[in-house]
Amino acid sequence: MCGIFAYTGKKNSTSILLDGLTSLEYRGYDSAGIFIPGSGSIKSVGAVNNLKKKITKTIQGTSGIAHLRWATHGEPTEINAHPHHDCTENIWLVHNGIIENYKELKEKLSALGHTFKSSTDTEVLAHLIEHHLHKTKDFEKAVIATLNEVTGTYGIAVAHNTDPDKIIAARNGAPVVIGIGNNENFVASDPTPILRHTKNVIYLHDGEVAVITPESHHIYNLNSILIERQKETIDWDVEQVKKDGYEHFMLKEIMQGPEVIENTIRGRLIIEEGTAKLGGLEMVTDKLRSIKRIVIVGCGTAYYAGLVGEYMLEEYAGIPVEVEVGSEFRYRKPIMDEHTALLAISQSGETADTLEAIREAKRKGALTLGIVNTVGSTIARETDAGIYNHAGPEIGVASTKAFISQLTALSLFTLFLGRQRTMSQSTGKQIAEEIKLLPEKIKSILAQKETIRKIAEKYSNSRDFLFIGRKYNYPIAFEGALKLKEVSYIHAEGYGAGEMKHGPLAMIDENFPTLAIAPLDSVYEKMISNIQEIKARKGKIVVITTEKNTQIKDMAEDIIYIPETLEVLSPLLTIVPLQLFAYYFARKKGLDVDRPRNLAKSVTVE
Ligand code: AGP
Repeated sequence: MCGIFAYTGKKNSTSILLDGLTSLEYRGYDSAGIFIPGSGSIKSVGAVNNLKKKITKTIQGTSGIAHLRWATHGEPTEINAHPHHDCTENIWLVHNGIIENYKELKEKLSALGHTFKSSTDTEVLAHLIEHHLHKTKDFEKAVIATLNEVTGTYGIAVAHNTDPDKIIAARNGAPVVIGIGNNENFVASDPTPILRHTKNVIYLHDGEVAVITPESHHIYNLNSILIERQKETIDWDVEQVKKDGYEHFMLKEIMQGPEVIENTIRGRLIIEEGTAKLGGLEMVTDKLRSIKRIVIVGCGTAYYAGLVGEYMLEEYAGIPVEVEVGSEFRYRKPIMDEHTALLAISQSGETADTLEAIREAKRKGALTLGIVNTVGSTIARETDAGIYNHAGPEIGVASTKAFISQLTALSLFTLFLGRQRTMSQSTGKQIAEEIKLLPEKIKSILAQKETIRKIAEKYSNSRDFLFIGRKYNYPIAFEGALKLKEVSYIHAEGYGAGEMKHGPLAMIDENFPTLAIAPLDSVYEKMISNIQEIKARKGKIVVITTEKNTQIKDMAEDIIYIPETLEVLSPLLTIVPLQLFAYYFARKKGLDVDRPRNLAKSVTVE
């Protein structure tokens, strides 16, 4: 998720653009840049302050475009920072989104003599506009002709060096809002940088193009038909806008679960062949065929995602898997060789314990892979190959949308590896088709958030909570417990349900509630036995189960229903109520759910 911002008016655009970028920093902070028509461009790696330090008096004007990058294609370097330009250096552009057909477009333009500087998908758009401008001799028509050739998502702002008052914006799948001021107009990814100037906005719809000058704004569709659109007045404050109107980033990021799955699978799920196309693994495809064992390493939530991956890969790729926490792996004497692959899972890509595990594996000659959300992070750079999550920045310390994306990436990896080995096309296709349906199924769970809030608040005075699950939901019991403990500070414990008789049952009484994850799957009857054991000792139970399961209604105080899905994919659904449960439990206690005490978003120290 990047941030775009553009201005055209009568005031000094440099300071307006830089202030706007500062307010957008929650959208991405790998690199930043601005372009001022007739004056030039400055870019920097890292947060906006690095850009501000490079600004000189010479770069000034009354219009411009600006960008904050959360890298998806190409490392977070200055060369890859936006804005990007064409060969003439007259057309400059900032972009939020993913251009899916950028490789084909880049090949076509290179064959026509265009030369590229960056490894981004975005730069292709600037050269394609240049290509069409030669033919149309009209800037607006050239932009529209370009967008008609593009597949993927974009929110863009485009400026021309010799037409300084005009900014062209367009949207498809990534938000763009136009700010309507007094002899000045704005373009942004969301209203945050606009609100200090005007509260009058127009939200572009997918497939629309806006042409703005200080005095005018016109909106067209991709057939160049003019569209009338009424202005709206924003009544949110800046903080609310950053959270899309949610009270906390944690809730916003839980609600982003469906779109995160769509972003993680975009361009990768090959349903007809029942497999996944993973560009980041292409250079090690043959090596992966000879791998005889996988060791998955992660910390915290990433470790629990790895435990789900173990079940997936063993059942559907037929390969032995072990899962280790980074802080243990690096101090053991792990047996690794050239037939072992280490798969590191990390949202930040900077977790010290996970990073050291990678380095230990490399010393022993193992192939190292990563499932990482932060492009260009240390773990992404030090592993031999990997899969980027494309989940966008995760601001809440408690990992939610990243976990959903990690499970999605593991599902894709399982399809890829399974179809290299024993998995049939029909099995792969069945799983791939179900993955495609998950976003809608998660939306139906999120629609129950008020029900889940009431259940969570009912238990919010509890000092202890036990989470139990089996098989694919054994790791989810641990992840659910971690979510609750890290945002509510109570003792919450995950346990394999089959272990109840071996100790935990002694804790159960009317003051020690249990959350049981019991979807209708191959171990459902075993879960029912555990639930009855707990009920017999007056333990209170909250159950997560599959819709239409009427058998369980007399066994639990509270039931949260999830849609039916394949057992292998059930963790992507069962975790959603647990994320909401933890959020509302902690919110009822009045705690800072986005910044829990004692914790950091990225643990870069041992
Ligand atoms: C999860 O909610 C925690 N914030 C924490 O356990 C986190 O998952 C862990 O520190 C690993 O971080 P990483 O994914 O960035 O490596």
